[in-house]
Amino acid sequence: MKILVTGGAGFIGSNFIFHMREKHPAYELVCLDKLTYAGNLETLGSVMGRPGFRFIRADIADREAVYGIFAAEQPDVVVNFAAESHVDRSIENPAVFLETNVMGTQVLLDACREYGVQRYHQVSTDEVYGDLPLDRPDLFFTEQTPLHTSSPYSASKAAADLLCSAYQRTYHLPITISRCSNNYGPCQFPEKLIPLMIANALSDKPLPVYGEGLNVRDWLYVEDHCAAIDLILERGQVGQVYNIGGHNEMKNIDIVRRILAILGKPESLITHVTDRKGHDMRYAIDPSFIHRELGWLPETRFEEGIQWTVQWYLDNRAWWENIISGEYQDYYERMYANR
Ligand code: NAD
Ligand code: DAU
Repeated sequence: MKILVTGGAGFIGSNFIFHMREKHPAYELVCLDKLTYAGNLETLGSVMGRPGFRFIRADIADREAVYGIFAAEQPDVVVNFAAESHVDRSIENPAVFLETNVMGTQVLLDACREYGVQRYHQVSTDEVYGDLPLDRPDLFFTEQTPLHTSSPYSASKAAADLLCSAYQRTYHLPITISRCSNNYGPCQFPEKLIPLMIANALSDKPLPVYGEGLNVRDWLYVEDHCAAIDLILERGQVGQVYNIGGHNEMKNIDIVRRILAILGKPESLITHVTDRKGHDMRYAIDPSFIHRELGWLPETRFEEGIQWTVQWYLDNRAWWENIISGEYQDYYERMYANR
């Protein structure tokens, strides 16, 4: 079995590579990644050059390069993690989100048609469902919830999902889609809430909470997401969408307070800043379908997962300090200076 993992030098893709190497040591994994600001070869250091793993730098939207890789590698399965993934950056510059998330997905789907695969899996997000009101805790996203997007990021992910469904129906491509809630864990780029707050707290810098910090996200430990995708590849039904989430809804402000408590840092570091444009209030996945059909349940309790995550950032300071010393400084200045 040979799996092409696109976006494998990013947060979830790299964790998926580690997961698959441990659970399925006989599989061959080929990682295709453009190495944008979010991709980091250091993350893959422990697998680079090892038997059963190969890294190829390429852009999923580059048709010639992608076809060349399919011709040479003949993957059995494709798992597409490659994406521009940060909502704030999509608000600043939507174009690259359409290029990678929509056009890039189309190129991969065309390559799958051209060369044939046993499965194409699209890694999508709960953000395609839009948001839920705070005063209706009884409401959850199911696989039947209509797509209703808020940001250029979520619109691009929804467009990609629709393309996948169209290719499945029209060309009978063996496609599955998963829509997961917010992930946290090792190797997440420090522009996202949890690693950004850990990094700032460790440097005694202000912790920028958007608005009142009352927005709710449904947090899932990254390894649980990877295990769910592994199960979908093994036993998922072609043409099916699977929602992945852990019923672990938390307000942003509570997450930030928890991080400060773990690190023993004062709450006076919290700074309320101007809210994100079009900020989604609440995400909440109903994971009962994947539980019923495939037996998946999250294994990591948040209390444990957040401790491990903070510890990982403490133990791997060089990894994130390298990142925040480069382009990140300009990004941080643009995003937070006048907020
Ligand atoms: P990330 O930003 O950490 O990593 C994205 C990776 O894709 C990087 O390695 C980057 O170099 C690569 N990439 C970007 N553009 C590319 C291109 N044109 N060609 C090839 N590679 C390219 O993202 P992540 O948080 O690991 O998310 C991975 C996937 O999971 C995305 O599709 C995202 O939409 C989805 N998702 C993320 C979350 C989350 O909480 N992070 C939750 C649900 C779904
Ligand atoms: O729900 C899944 C999605 O989760 C994924 O599809 C996205 O790729 C991923 O980035 C994530 O999107 P969010 O916008 O929910 O994640 P982010 O970490 O950017 O923000 C989480 C919440 O924290 C959100 O309500 C905004 C808030 N926030 C974020 C940052 C970066 C702050 O208050 N301050 C910040 O500095």
